[in-house]
Amino acid sequence: MDRPSVTLRDAKPLYEEGILFARHLDAIAPFYRIMLGRRVVQTIAKAFTQLGHDLCYRNTILAERNGAIIGMISGYATDGHRASVGPPLIEALGGRAMRMRIMMRLMRRQQWFLGQYAEGDFYIQGFAVSEDLRGQGIGSALMDAMEERARASGAKRLILNVGAKNEGARRFYDRRGMAIEAGWPKLPGMPPFVLRMVKPF
Ligand SMILES: CC(C)(COP(=O)(O)OP(=O)(O)OC[C@H]1O[C@@H](n2cnc3c(N)ncnc32)[C@H](O)[C@@H]1OP(=O)(O)O)[C@@H](O)C(=O)NCCC(=O)NCCS
Repeated sequence: MDRPSVTLRDAKPLYEEGILFARHLDAIAPFYRIMLGRRVVQTIAKAFTQLGHDLCYRNTILAERNGAIIGMISGYATDGHRASVGPPLIEALGGRAMRMRIMMRLMRRQQWFLGQYAEGDFYIQGFAVSEDLRGQGIGSALMDAMEERARASGAKRLILNVGAKNEGARRFYDRRGMAIEAGWPKLPGMPPFVLRMVKPF
């Protein structure tokens, strides 16, 4: 496939970039909306501009065409990682963090599955291309760039979680050599909602 003209670049600590990042993340990861409620986009955008946690701008690569952001991928090396997304989101919520604290308690089993890492894992936490521009190679370019970053960090595996019913994304990962390692929840007679996919380097 011919690659469309698209520029990839590291994200900057700008609230406006955080808003675009957060919109993409909100569209693919319902977890954040459940946790943060209707201010989900603004809250993530605010945290995005700050250093030292998962949703920080430093973990994100953006795809741009004609000055417009049309895709993003976000990931980090998990070594030494301690579920560090909570405090910056609580801070960004100001005095309105009660809902998030309750939801985090209720969802801790799912969080436990989503947050399991092995030594040397590099975790992709968000990946999306604008809907009208999918299927043009932009996602492949973003994933190539993030894989390069993962390898450069010394990671041994690329890992991510994908909705079991997200067939398009699963096909994409499958073609890139990712394989299903586990599913959540593990209940008799019930298919999992979320799959963990991995690719060893
Ligand atoms: C998954 C995604 C990021 C891939 O980006 P992309 O720019 O469409 O990917 P590419 O053009 O490089 O690769 C195309 C491949 O992606 C897969 N794909 C997934 N969704 C697709 C879509 N809506 N349109 C076209 N291809 C899609 C197909 O396997 C396709 O290969 P094919 O055309 O040979 O069937 C993008 O489709 C997307 O944003 N999906 C919605 C968000 C999402 O599900 N993110 C992953 C969460 S885990």
